[in-house]
Amino acid sequence: MKSNKIALIAILLWTVTIAVIAWFFIRGNTVPGNDGRTAVVLSADERDLVLREMRGLLAATHGIMEGLIHEDMQQVAKSSRSAGMAVAADVNPTIITKLPLPFKKLGMSVHQEMDEITKAAESGKPAPELMKMLSGTVSKCVACHAAWQIKTGNAAEK
Ligand code: HEC
Repeated sequence: MKSNKIALIAILLWTVTIAVIAWFFIRGNTVPGNDGRTAVVLSADERDLVLREMRGLLAATHGIMEGLIHEDMQQVAKSSRSAGMAVAADVNPTIITKLPLPFKKLGMSVHQEMDEITKAAESGKPAPELMKMLSGTVSKCVACHAAWQIKTGNAAEK
């Protein structure tokens, strides 16, 4: 009898834990922002890391454009590769749990598309086609910035 009860409590606790983890995975650590956007709450260090990655994305975008202007496909591929999935894989796991699911999806799709630009540049696709791909990717930068901001703090205020 007693061990049955303990098992039941264990299963219950386990279910609650999974539910909480799932909730955070989907919602992330967010609060309403001060300008109509939703704010992702990160520690100061985590914010610095995300913003550094952002500046990397901007530099990569610029590098791709410069490569396209000069029809230098090697530079295009080098720049887009620097913003591909390989860099996304470095992001630390506590940040991942604080980012809401739609944010993660959008972020990952930008890195994936950068890899697609690398492949296209290496396979000799013409510059206008690469420019079109880049424009599609930049529209995701715009969409994400319109929806989210970053605030520093330790936990979401309810
Ligand atoms: C998944 C969401 C998301 C995507 C996609 C995204 N960003 Fe950002 N980016 C942010 C957030 C959030 C901030 C912080 C904005 C704020 O707090 O107002 C930011 C900030 C920045 C900054 C400012 C960095 C600093 O040092 O202050 C730059 C530059 C930037 N992003 C460039 C880009 C570029 C270029 C792309 C696309 C190639 C991109 N971002 C895609 C979410 C995103």
